[in-house]
Amino acid sequence: MTEHGPGIAIGIDIGGTGIKGASVNVRTGELISDRIKVPTPKGAKPDDVIRAVSTLFETLSDAELDDAPLGVAFPAVVKNGVTMSAANVSDDWIGLQAEALFEKALGRDISFLNDADAAGLAEQRYGAAKEATGVTLVTTLGTGIGTAIITDGELVPNVELGHIEIDGHDAETRASNAVREREGLSWKRWAKRLQKYYEACELYLSPDLIVVGGGVSKHHEHFLPLLELNAPIVPAALRNNAGILGAAARASELHTTRA
Ligand code: BGC
Repeated sequence: MTEHGPGIAIGIDIGGTGIKGASVNVRTGELISDRIKVPTPKGAKPDDVIRAVSTLFETLSDAELDDAPLGVAFPAVVKNGVTMSAANVSDDWIGLQAEALFEKALGRDISFLNDADAAGLAEQRYGAAKEATGVTLVTTLGTGIGTAIITDGELVPNVELGHIEIDGHDAETRASNAVREREGLSWKRWAKRLQKYYEACELYLSPDLIVVGGGVSKHHEHFLPLLELNAPIVPAALRNNAGILGAAARASELHTTRA
């Protein structure tokens, strides 16, 4: 264990558009370094992404953080370190021993998990779902739609509700924030799509609380009030940092368990 103990960890969040990282005080859920961001390499092929993460990690880490736990969040189903899907990244990730490849490139252990699961964990530990009981649905509206389910504080991993079918379409291809930007949708028109999307989520899950994250959640006043749902729907507290914070928190917990 480092002199920092499990209180400091590093989180890296790989997204369809950008890769972000920072060191984190996992007790308070605060970033304790600048957030470093690099673009996700075009095509998001494994070698290129792994190289970009290595460069970002080198920039982030200093001697003091040498053996701080490192968590890496990735936008795919992650089972036992293997990436099992690829919606906004290269298909070459499907079936890849991604965790082992990152560990080899970085020369250290990592904790590897789905990006929305990382965001969900962070909102549950430090953010909008902190006091929540029952079933919480955390969604991230970004390049795709990421979803995490937390029931009474426990994460149910790899819930891919961003891909449910709405009007014959994969939901994230109609309602993600990237689609809003690409199609130049007004907040009102986007909210209509979100209404359908969250209604379907309610039909399947009956959540007690819905948390809406992703960078666009900082503009929540333009679209959340337009939604009429059974459960309260609230903006994420941690916005675009949730993935970093959740990855770091997970890494720190696993590090403590192993130590
Ligand atoms: C992926 C999810 C990911 C989400 C947000 C979806 O396309 O299938 O695994 O969590 O995008 O990045």
